[in-house]
Amino acid sequence: MPVVTNIADLRELSRKRIAKAIFDYVDRGAYDEATLRANREDLEALKFRQRVAIDVDNRSLGSILLGQAVAMPVALAPVGLTGLNWADGEILAARAAARFGVPYTLSTMSICSIEDVAGAVDSPFWFQLYMMRDRGFAASLIERAKAAKCSALVLTLDLQIQGQRHMDLKNGLSVPPRLTLGTALDVLTKPGWALNVLTGRRKSFGNLEGRIPDAKSLTTLSQWIAGQFDPTLSWKDVAWVRSLWPGKLILKGILEVEDAKHAADSGAEAIVVSNHGGRQLDGTVSSIRGLPEIVQAVGSRTEVLFDGGVRSGQDVLRALALGARGVMIGRAYAYGLGALGEAGVTQALEILRKELDVTMALCGIRDVKEASPALLRPA
Ligand code: GLV
Repeated sequence: MPVVTNIADLRELSRKRIAKAIFDYVDRGAYDEATLRANREDLEALKFRQRVAIDVDNRSLGSILLGQAVAMPVALAPVGLTGLNWADGEILAARAAARFGVPYTLSTMSICSIEDVAGAVDSPFWFQLYMMRDRGFAASLIERAKAAKCSALVLTLDLQIQGQRHMDLKNGLSVPPRLTLGTALDVLTKPGWALNVLTGRRKSFGNLEGRIPDAKSLTTLSQWIAGQFDPTLSWKDVAWVRSLWPGKLILKGILEVEDAKHAADSGAEAIVVSNHGGRQLDGTVSSIRGLPEIVQAVGSRTEVLFDGGVRSGQDVLRALALGARGVMIGRAYAYGLGALGEAGVTQALEILRKELDVTMALCGIRDVKEASPALLRPA
């Protein structure tokens, strides 16, 4: 077993262990993947100021997100198909996050259902909602999140229409996974993954079973999304969700100041500056480039969270320095799950914590809440 020192090592282990179609679903982005790359490049381009001869003993990484004390200002982002990376992956990731002391977000497009996770994990989690054409079904998902005592609802706004991910089409990504001539050779080399996923309590979308006809025999993911997700979604619908959900509301997928202002006006407690991890509008700016002006415009009215390209504690600190209250990680923990199950999610979080801690120290700060633009050199 190789020594795992960073998220890239977990990615490599996951790549070797799990079916190519599932790995690529997690790993890849939309169209030419220019925005996927920009998310990483623009984070790496931000340079820290190295500070010396400052007492950096007794450092503190704890913070508050949406009124909840967290071990570090990081939350697990919603990731579709998590339970196909590792059997019952949503439960394992939620458990790892709870033990570590950071929030976990369950995706609408999860394999384990809201009830599966609520029944297996004591700590409350966040639930991510996609607006469905069938508003009765959307309302029922909100009711189920309430019944499960979810501590926040994350409404995703940037996927009314799905950006094409070429690899998903080439791989024939389907849920539940289908064995075809094209995938058989790959799966034969991943027996550990195949046997493990067979033991999971579900192989298809847990939140949709019994509610959406044919949830068990879905064809391709993109066809299903095109049929069910509502392209008419508007700020009126956001108000409708707000009226149904009295708890904390987080609006995810904001990249422009104008939209951030609408989001703040809607009464959401937080927004997530995000381009969906480069999985939607290819050719738009990186999330980190969008962040500062949004913080400036609405940061006093709503908590601003950030995601997109975070693979290290250094990246977490970069986003915090530019004003994010907290950072969501998707791929970084999904690689850990695909590599090693629950232990891999914990390891991903440990890696980020250690990197964040040392980077803070070398930048001359002791408390993560002291992060400010002063940590970075001007571009
Ligand atoms: C959304 O669910 C995605 O696949 O990015």
